[in-house]
Amino acid sequence: MTKTSNVSVIIGAQWGDEGKGKITDVFAGEAAYVVRFQGGNNAGHTVIVNGKTFKLHLIPSGVIYDTPISVIGNGVVIDPKALIDEINYIRKKGIEPRLMVSDRAHVIFPYHIAMDDALTGHQGDLAAGSTKRGIAPVYADKMYRHGIRMTDLLEPDILKEKLSTAYSFNCRILKAMDFEFKETQESIFEKYLEYGQTLKSYINDVSVVLSQAVKDGKPILFEGAQGMSLDVDHGIYPHTTSSNTTAGHISAGTGVCYRNIQRVIGIAKAYVSRVGISPFPTELPENDAKALRDKGNEYGTTTGRPRRVGWLDLVQLRQAVRVNGLTEITLTKLDVLTGFKELPVCTGYKVDGRIVTEMPASLSAYRQAEPIYEILQGWNETPDLDAGYDGLPSAMKTYISYIENAVDCPISIISVGPQRHETIFKQ
Ligand code: GDP
Ligand code: IMO
Ligand code: MG
Repeated sequence: MTKTSNVSVIIGAQWGDEGKGKITDVFAGEAAYVVRFQGGNNAGHTVIVNGKTFKLHLIPSGVIYDTPISVIGNGVVIDPKALIDEINYIRKKGIEPRLMVSDRAHVIFPYHIAMDDALTGHQGDLAAGSTKRGIAPVYADKMYRHGIRMTDLLEPDILKEKLSTAYSFNCRILKAMDFEFKETQESIFEKYLEYGQTLKSYINDVSVVLSQAVKDGKPILFEGAQGMSLDVDHGIYPHTTSSNTTAGHISAGTGVCYRNIQRVIGIAKAYVSRVGISPFPTELPENDAKALRDKGNEYGTTTGRPRRVGWLDLVQLRQAVRVNGLTEITLTKLDVLTGFKELPVCTGYKVDGRIVTEMPASLSAYRQAEPIYEILQGWNETPDLDAGYDGLPSAMKTYISYIENAVDCPISIISVGPQRHETIFKQ
């Protein structure tokens, strides 16, 4: 049995950092293409192979293998300097990236990064605590329709025309917000023309190439960034990112028809973490959080910020199953829970005297939400990798089957460590 069917998807089921990078790497060896379809270098995906650690932000996590081509779809937003730096980072590790970048992907400019900073201050309690990579402003420019795409970097006249509009628009807002921004339009123009030339050989029509690959029966793996609760429509808005992180966005973000997708694997941590600002119903108080944070090494891959941590939230996970049409779940970081006597899991929220079992739209409901817990038994034994699923501690198996039943989705893969081989497939 192969691990992938022809077109498979890896999706974050919580607030990001679930271990998508690790699981993408586990599957990527069998893929012809590994494809990102949304987000930008706000993502941080860690892959550890043979003791070597790779921290990836824009390039898909299949890049470590020889075969697959790493594809960055049109739904991704690209900071070209960050992409060039990441290509060089991978080269330094002894790998020449096999890369394709969509001609239609939008480009992050320095004024987007400045705007991101300015916005965070302006939005106060309604901010998401952004990674300050320019993500919201670049997607906003895309929707205003004065965004600049990868293909424009190859056409000096068009780049000049578009940059003039986008630069003056952003600079006026920055000025009105009393935010200092000094880079000139001319220096940005020269720099971005050069980035275009450096990246030229990778730029292609991703939709055409991938759709042909589907026709030829080649295996394709899509790698999500961020997670369900950060989706700009279905997440805890406005404490989200600025893209659709859910599987439904794959067609729009790559130009590959949604009807081809066969397998959708949701990656869920055995507990939850959140980096940034939002209500977080199952969050542990700081005194208790530190032990779990340190044991799980919950520090941001992109910003190094300590992640907030809490107990598994089944209301959140149920939404991920529904919205993404998950065919299965991979449960990660179960090893981190070893040694806890009791494991609370949240089955619903109490809001204003009512019990809520689906993620509400109301921000006020989230702010008041009190978790309702079912207490499951913990385990002390370390999983024996050679013994497979049957060899797992019996309380761990009960924890797994409780979740499967509660969210009505099978858990097919269990991850008990950051390395490729620390992965157990349930038959
Ligand atoms: P991503 O953004 O979803 O790819 O996740 P990150 O890479 O940002 O964060 C997940 C972290 O947990 C990384 O440091 C991984 O190496 C690590 N990790 C992944 N799976 C496991 C696991 O099963 N157990 C442990 N202990 N660490 C894991
Ligand atoms: P991966 O792919 C965790 C969070 C930020 C902030 C909000 C908006 O590694 O799972 P943005 O910079 O996107 O405007 O920030 O989203 N965020 C992430 N949190 N993992 C990520 O990516 C994230 N990408 C963005 O902390 O709350
Ligand atoms: Mg991450």
